[in-house]
Amino acid sequence: MTDSAGLFIRGLTKTYANGIRALSDVDLDVPPGLYGLLGPNGAGKSTLMRTLATLQAPDCGEIRLDGLDVRAEPDHLRRRLGYLPQQIGAYPGVSGYDLLTRFSWLKGRTDARTRRAEIAALLERVNLTEAARRPVATYSGGMLRRFGIAMALIGAPRLLIVDEPTAGLDPAERNRFHRVLSEVASEAVVLLSTHIVEDVENLCARLAILAAGRIVVEGTPRELTARLEGQLWAQVVPRGEALSEAASASTVHLAAVPNGTLAVAQAPEAPSGDFVAHRPRLEDVYHVALAEAGVSEAAA
Ligand SMILES: Nc1ncnc2c1ncn2[C@@H]1O[C@H](COP(=O)(O)OP(=O)(O)OP(=O)(O)O)[C@@H](O)[C@H]1O
Ligand SMILES: [Mg+2]
Repeated sequence: MTDSAGLFIRGLTKTYANGIRALSDVDLDVPPGLYGLLGPNGAGKSTLMRTLATLQAPDCGEIRLDGLDVRAEPDHLRRRLGYLPQQIGAYPGVSGYDLLTRFSWLKGRTDARTRRAEIAALLERVNLTEAARRPVATYSGGMLRRFGIAMALIGAPRLLIVDEPTAGLDPAERNRFHRVLSEVASEAVVLLSTHIVEDVENLCARLAILAAGRIVVEGTPRELTARLEGQLWAQVVPRGEALSEAASASTVHLAAVPNGTLAVAQAPEAPSGDFVAHRPRLEDVYHVALAEAGVSEAAA
């Protein structure tokens, strides 16, 4: 397994100086393609991504990229890494073009002609050619995200790590962003973290759900929804009415709908006559996984 393509992670554990254990014994195999990392706030997604990007050291564990030991040879990974952090820093006054040029230098693109050609192609790819000479500080949220991906793609990374890239994007920007990620995923390992289940459902060949620092579920969207086949029941509880005690005991998820509250329950048979069979979706997988892991979503 260790000599296969992609990311290989075993026993990865990370404790912060304040005693918070953000990752506990994480095992993960991430093949080339688009891989989704789902989890609620505080689950450890950014911690995992920063650790993989070699920005912080784990307590213990093994990380390999295409068979190569990342902790022993971090520079090997860094040359092959594109990382888009959850928060992008501000660079007042510097234009997008100049910033890309600086990053390109840092990545070792010292030949001016290669550098210019790569930057022009990247700007085109993320649709920022026209805005390239404007200061980055004047970009909208969507433009900044696209600019971030252009920065992360300098040097044609083998591993692209993007931490909640679609938060705050309008639907058109989100689509554009997804298209770029899918393209990149045809030739690289792309790890995408999000709490938007829909993003993963539509885009990712495989996914893992992280809760309280542990991987609780891993597989393809289809496999994971198939596991819940025949186990889910739904009822719309009209506004002002309450679920029976028996029904609420098996309820894994409540969502507001226009005429009341949709309750989704997990049970071998319908908890009451008001429930009808519910076809599992990835969102249900997510809620069931968190409930099984004992992670309270209300507290997250
Ligand atoms: N630098 C740090 N020092 C101490 N604790 C930290 C630090 N960074 C994160 N944590 C803690 O580690 C846990 C995991 O945080 P992390 O940021 O990895 O979660 P996340 O899944 O990325 O959450 P979000 O969806 O909110 O971005 C949390 O309990 C958080 O408070
Ligand atoms: Mg995060």
